[in-house]
Amino acid sequence: MRPLRDRPHLVVGLGAGGVTEGRAAVSRPGTERIARLFDQAARRYDRQMGFFERLLFGGARAWATSKARGAVVELGVGTGLNLPRYGDRVERVIGVDVSEGMLGVARRRVADHGLRGVELRKGDAQALDLPDATADTVVSTFTFCTIPDPGAASREAHRVLRPGGTFVLAEHGPPTHPLARAVMRAAEPLSILLAADHLTRDPVPYLERAGFTVSEVHRGGLGGMVFRVLARRDDGLGGGSEPPPVADRSLVVGSMAPAPWRGPPAHRRR
Ligand SMILES: C[S@@+](CC[C@H](N)C(=O)[O-])C[C@H]1O[C@@H](n2cnc3c(N)ncnc32)[C@H](O)[C@@H]1O
Repeated sequence: MRPLRDRPHLVVGLGAGGVTEGRAAVSRPGTERIARLFDQAARRYDRQMGFFERLLFGGARAWATSKARGAVVELGVGTGLNLPRYGDRVERVIGVDVSEGMLGVARRRVADHGLRGVELRKGDAQALDLPDATADTVVSTFTFCTIPDPGAASREAHRVLRPGGTFVLAEHGPPTHPLARAVMRAAEPLSILLAADHLTRDPVPYLERAGFTVSEVHRGGLGGMVFRVLARRDDGLGGGSEPPPVADRSLVVGSMAPAPWRGPPAHRRR
């Protein structure tokens, strides 16, 4: 007999491919369906996300943006809530998202804040249209939970990071508190159905399988549901949890290359 966690509890009809997260086995929404869901949610996203962040997620967004350095690729950039928060050590940002609706809000935010060095693109985190080894930091905040194939997204993050680069991830996942864990697992089939949101997806095994060295995992927020993860593309380099300084600009090539490099950070308020 299959273990309980592998048995289907609810099957809903959203695209192909069953997935088991916690005790819920549901058909997972495909990328097109996810894009439509977020197109519809775009106008109210900031208000809703603000509510959940205040209530549940602690300072995970501030933490994630503070860890970014150099040339940044942001997976599922959404409405661009992170963009005004990046500090002077971030030079350029490429934000990728499948939803034009979310990207539209992000573009307005970039204009409203006068942000420079930001490129927003429609694209799929599972198959990034970016060259190998060109990013200093890959950032994902509350996106991993919605990506249909987080293994593919992890491998892509690993591919586009330069050796020594860091994947910074803030995400909800299975809470450390047993009651909170039970509640989230019970709610998960509905959240996948309505919002493509895998509430109890643990990101860490996906990162490890993609070849990352996971150097920091912090659990916080309500019931310990929020993961703050630093993972390094090591390639045998070793090292600690802080991203190393961006010393060699020649590592940043292709569409992310700041050419020529003029010294002051390109990503800042005008
Ligand atoms: C919950 S929102 C998070 C947005 C933003 N990262 C934030 O912190 O507010 C998830 C975002 O991921 C995007 N997304 C989902 N699957 C994706 C994929 N395969 N590739 C790129 N973006 C994706 C959605 O369109 C949505 O904008």
